[in-house]
Amino acid sequence: MALKETIATLSTPAFLVDLDRVEANTVRMHEKASRSGVHFRPHVKTHKTLEIARMQGRGEPLPITVSTLAEAEFFADGGFSDITYAVPISPEKLGRAASLQKRVGRLNLLLDSMETLAAIDSFCATEGVLFSVFLKVDSGYGRAGVDPRTPEALDLARALAGSPSVTFAGLLTHAGHSYSVSSREAMLQVAREEVEAVDRFASRLRESGVDGLVRSVGSTPTASVVDTFEDCDEVRPGNYVFYDAFQATVGSCTLAECAASVVTTVIGSYPSSGRLILDAGALALSKDSGPEHVAPGFGYGLLCDLRLRPLPMRIVSLSQEHGKVETHPGASVPVGTRLRVIPNHSCLTAALFDGYAVLRGEEVVDRWVPVRGW
Ligand SMILES: Cc1ncc(COP(=O)(O)O)c(C=O)c1O
Repeated sequence: MALKETIATLSTPAFLVDLDRVEANTVRMHEKASRSGVHFRPHVKTHKTLEIARMQGRGEPLPITVSTLAEAEFFADGGFSDITYAVPISPEKLGRAASLQKRVGRLNLLLDSMETLAAIDSFCATEGVLFSVFLKVDSGYGRAGVDPRTPEALDLARALAGSPSVTFAGLLTHAGHSYSVSSREAMLQVAREEVEAVDRFASRLRESGVDGLVRSVGSTPTASVVDTFEDCDEVRPGNYVFYDAFQATVGSCTLAECAASVVTTVIGSYPSSGRLILDAGALALSKDSGPEHVAPGFGYGLLCDLRLRPLPMRIVSLSQEHGKVETHPGASVPVGTRLRVIPNHSCLTAALFDGYAVLRGEEVVDRWVPVRGW
């Protein structure tokens, strides 16, 4: 009988998923959404696997959020039939979206401009399709979305309500600015802003005769700190399945809830200068600089021993396949030593790997393959 694979025998670098922790994280958020009486539509871009998406719905093929059409097609093939593509649609993708829509029960698209609505109107006039569309609202992040306090936002919402090519499904926001704050109180304040942006805009629209819009919110910091979801209809957290070193440092989770890590091998050891080299570089960890605003010089992930106990060492720089670590001069860490890194941003790190090694304790019990590409 073949020997069981473990974190001690895997070829490194490898992306590890701790099954017990993912299960606990998925159950906790699902319960919070159920208890709050809101629809749960988690973002699956963090893990991009059918296995975790099924866990997020506790066995049911729940509504999901995706960030690429490749994800939407992959999850549709896997039996998920209610999908929100939560990146503003570019007009050249409308043909692909129309084909996908024929295969699923519901496909929601996202837009935040009159130009895109005009492109949809002209596409639908020739192709004879009807799209379900959310209006992207900026709740303070300053990335995409309309400012809900402006007359332009009201005009676009009215145009959506009056368009023959779309069903105006609702208002969608993502409070990405929750990643820039450094206290629980500030995160709770962002959570309020996130909900208020869509709730107030929905009320304004109701007064002008546009009714029945879904108020959709979601980011992991805000979804993690609130006790219940209020004044919204739908929540879409994504990162919470894995969490990561960033989320643990800013207070969205504990280190013990971090479910993703990279196992790496020491391939160079220079005790006189207190330096190590890992076989995990930027292509295994991503170059996300982590929670610099609360922990300057944090490094490119949290370096731990094989049991995920943080070590007094920092990953100070990354090149493509090398990770440079600083420790104290004289530290003896022999070449061949295996270590684990809790990544700064688990979504970006996971997306670098073709497959995940799934662990119960230290044993590999499964292999999961994420969808990749766009
Ligand atoms: C539109 C949208 N919804 C939801 C999410 C999920 O956010 P998080 O990963 O913080 O849970 C994201 C993440 O970028 C997003 O862009």
